[in-house]
Amino acid sequence: MAKKKQNKRAPKLKFSNKWAYSAAPESTDHIELKEKYDLFINGKFVKPNSKKYFTTINPATEKKIASVAEANESDVDKAVKAARKAYDNTWSKMPGKERGKYLYRIARMIQERAREFSVIESMDGGKPIRESRDVDVPLAAAHFFYYAGWADKLNYAFPGVHPRSMGVAGQIIPWNFPLLMAAWKIAPALAAGNTVVLKPAETTPLTALKLAELIQEAELPDGIVNIITGAGRTGAAITAHPQLNKIAFTGSTDVGKIIQNALAGTDKKYTLELGGKAANIIFEDASIDMAVEGIINGIFFNQGHVCCAGSRLLVQESVAEEVIHKLKERMETLVVGDPLDKNTDVGAINSKEQLKKIKSLVKIGINEGGNCYQSSCSVPAKGFWFKPTIFTDVAQSSTIVQEEIFGPVLAIQTFRTVEEAIEKANNTPYGLSGGVWTDKGSKIFNVTGKLKAGVMWANTFNKFDPTSPFGGYKESGVGREGGLHGLSAYVHV
Ligand code: NAI
Ligand code: MG
Repeated sequence: MAKKKQNKRAPKLKFSNKWAYSAAPESTDHIELKEKYDLFINGKFVKPNSKKYFTTINPATEKKIASVAEANESDVDKAVKAARKAYDNTWSKMPGKERGKYLYRIARMIQERAREFSVIESMDGGKPIRESRDVDVPLAAAHFFYYAGWADKLNYAFPGVHPRSMGVAGQIIPWNFPLLMAAWKIAPALAAGNTVVLKPAETTPLTALKLAELIQEAELPDGIVNIITGAGRTGAAITAHPQLNKIAFTGSTDVGKIIQNALAGTDKKYTLELGGKAANIIFEDASIDMAVEGIINGIFFNQGHVCCAGSRLLVQESVAEEVIHKLKERMETLVVGDPLDKNTDVGAINSKEQLKKIKSLVKIGINEGGNCYQSSCSVPAKGFWFKPTIFTDVAQSSTIVQEEIFGPVLAIQTFRTVEEAIEKANNTPYGLSGGVWTDKGSKIFNVTGKLKAGVMWANTFNKFDPTSPFGGYKESGVGREGGLHGLSAYVHV
C-alpha cells in the first residue's frame, strides 16, 4: 500500500535501525484475572439476569482473556435501583468530608496497584505498557485525588448558589482510555454526592471490573458505584432508563447523536464527549525537532485511538519539506509491536472492527489521490496492527481530512499565511482540540484565540491534567469534563 514517492529536492532518507532494542516485556505474573466476570451491582458481583456472557480478547494476540457478563434491561434496572437506594439512604446524606475520604482511599489504592492495572489495560486494549503505566493509570489516580479535594468544598467551588447533587448518573465510556475514562466519570460524580451506574466498552471491560474489586475493598458503601458490562444494547438501556438523572457519554459522534435524540424531551442532564479531527499547526519559526516529536506524540500515541489526536498536520510551506523529511525519519524509529514490551511506541489496534475501519479510510485516501507513506516496520502475524501512516497531497475536502479515522494515520496539508492556517484548521465538523507550534507568544495567543476547539496546546500536545477542563465545540460534544467545569456537570445550582 505504501507508495514511497520522494520529493526530488528533499534530502535522501537515511534510515537506520540503531534503535533496535532487545525485548523488555513487562511480566504478567503479578496480575490477578478471573476467567469469568459478573456484574457489579449493589457492592457484589452478581450473575446477569440475561444469563449471557461475551468474550474479551487481547487484540495483540487475538487470545481470549475472560468471559464478561452482558447486562440486559432488567440488569440495568437492578443497577439503577441499587444506585438510587444508595443515593437516598447513604451517599446524599454523608457529609462531603466523609465522601472525600473514600475518594482519597480509592486514589491511593489505584496507585498501590498501578502495575497490575497497567498490565491489564495493555492486555485488554492493546495500548503500549509505557502509556498505560505512565499516562492512563497515574492520571486515573490523579482524578480521584483532585475530586476528593472538592468533596467537602462544594460551597466554595460554587459560591452563593447552594450546589446540590443530581441523583443517579448513567455513564457510558469507550475503549481508548478505559480506566481513565472511568475515573473521569466516577470521581466528579461521587465528589458531588451522586451515585453511578457505569458501563465500560465491550472490548475493554477488565480494568473497570478490577476497579469494581478495588472499590469493594475500599469498603465504599454498597450501591454507590455499580459497574455493568455489555455492548451498545446495554448502553441504550442505560440511556433509556427513566430513573436516571444524568447521562455522561464518551464515544463516537454517531452514538452521541443517538443518545441526544433519546434524551430529547426528558429532564435528564447530559454531557457528551465525542469525536475530533484536531489540527497540529507548525509555523516556520517553530523549533522543528520539537514539533516533529509533538506530531509523533499527537497521532501515533495510543495508535491514534485518541479523540483529541493531532490527526491533521498543517505545516507552513517554507518548512514543509524539512518537517515531512524529519517526520519520516522519526517514523522509522518507532517500535511497533507487543504492547507489553517497554520499548513499544505503537501497540495493537483495539479491535478487528476498528482495524477494518482504518484500512477502509486509508484506501479511500489513496483512491482520492492522496500520497500515502508508511513506516517500513514489520508487524506481528497475529493480532490487529496498522503501521504509522502519513498522507500528503490531500485536499481540504478529502475524506481523510474530514473524517475521524481513530488510527495512526496523519493527513498533511500546507499553508502560507496565519489566516489560511486558521481557516483550514477550523474547516471541520469537529472542534475538540488543536496544537500550535511557534516561537512567538503573540502568535500563540492570536491563533489559539481564533481556533474553534475546546482544548488548545501550544508547543506541546496531548497533555492532560485533572484541574483542566476538557471538551469540544460543534460535533465534538456538549459540556466539559475535568476541573471545576467537570464538577459543575454533576451539580444543580
Ligand atoms: P461507540 O460510540 O459505539 O462506543 C462507545 C460506547 O458506547 C461503548 O461503551 C458502547 O458499548 C456504547 N454504545 C454503543 N452504542 C450505543 C447506544 N446506541 N446507546 C448507548 N451506548 C452505546 O464507539 P465504537 O463503535 O467503539 O467506535 C466507533 C468509532 O467511534 C471509532 O472508530 C472512533 O472513530 C469513534 N470513537 C470515538 C471515541 C472518542 O473518545 N471520541 C471513543 C471511541 C470511539
Ligand atoms: Mg479486550
